Amino acid sequence: MSDRIAVIEGDGIGQEVIPAAVEVLQALDREFTFVSGAAGDAVRAETGQALPTETYELAAEADATLFGAAGETAADVILPLRDAVDSFVNVRPARAYPGVDALRPETDVVFLRENTEGVYAGHEDRLSDDLSTLTRVVTSSASRELAEYACEFVADGRGPAGREAVTVVHKANVMRETDGRFRETALEVADAHGVDADEELMDAFATKLPLDPTQYGVIVCPNLAGDVLSDLAAGLVGGLGLLPSANVGHDNALFEPVHGTAPDIAGEGVANPTAAILSAAMLLEYLGYTADGQRVRAAVETVLADGPRTGDLGGDATTEAVTTAILGAL
Ligand code: NAI
Ligand code: MG
Repeated sequence: MSDRIAVIEGDGIGQEVIPAAVEVLQALDREFTFVSGAAGDAVRAETGQALPTETYELAAEADATLFGAAGETAADVILPLRDAVDSFVNVRPARAYPGVDALRPETDVVFLRENTEGVYAGHEDRLSDDLSTLTRVVTSSASRELAEYACEFVADGRGPAGREAVTVVHKANVMRETDGRFRETALEVADAHGVDADEELMDAFATKLPLDPTQYGVIVCPNLAGDVLSDLAAGLVGGLGLLPSANVGHDNALFEPVHGTAPDIAGEGVANPTAAILSAAMLLEYLGYTADGQRVRAAVETVLADGPRTGDLGGDATTEAVTTAILGAL
């Protein structure tokens, strides 16, 4: 049976790196059906809606979705798209690769970020000319589901090799009620599953991770902390052009590079397609094409090691040249 893959390029370099990732998927001998949907700033300017209902439904009904990035409308696009695929966890691996000049070449971590609540639950209010407030939402059920996913992830050997412990990152010393619940639930679940777990306060973690990333493997964190700390990890491994991610739901998933639309380089054809292509590799693995996913990863690693490289990695190659090299290595 052919898998139906929704493709939503979005704005800026989304329109450059997602076609590269689709080319890689098409180069594999699989019967994928690609269906494309529009979303983002340009669509809002035209239609008034950043995420047209048709695009939401396309993602909801597909077997998996590949998404690029949206500009100013990012929150209006990605938050509902995560909802369309019923996603409860955002998986963000950050790994340094041979050949890439990384601040911390020994980095090999995976962030498992809570994907539905925390401060991104959308409860913000302007109460007066002077006062705005935000309600932070933390439930035991979402915390438990995330922690259970983390335990399965470790049990399945999907974490970084040799770093099987789970680190629960939180700020429960200050946000005693919300992060207290998150911390307690995550540690309880790990204990019940017999998974080694430790914990770090998120501010201390932001110092300890760059000082010695080898202390960490699978990192479980609330929504905002996962957003910020995974970008920090991107800085350790050579930049945002390298980091893929998966928004995993119960029966659906959406894959996207961690980066945004990169307005500073958009339209020049020089964006690094690696993050998008590694997102496609995660999509392949999610759909059960494990060997294909590993082939794509290996091809990407060959090109990262031998070149050509885009400007963010110190080279001067175009997106197209890097994609052609990856296709060649495949
Ligand atoms: P960004 O990730 O777009 O860019 C940050 C820096 O990294 C820029 O210097 C950019 O050139 C570089 N960069 C990012 N991806 C790259 C790639 N593949 N190759 C080479 N260089 C790359 O983040 P920024 O500048 O904070 O946001 C720009 C726009 O993107 C904003 O409108 C923001 O709302 C949106 N955004 C959307 C996201 C999404 O749709 N999921 C996520 C993050 C930002
Ligand atoms: Mg982000």
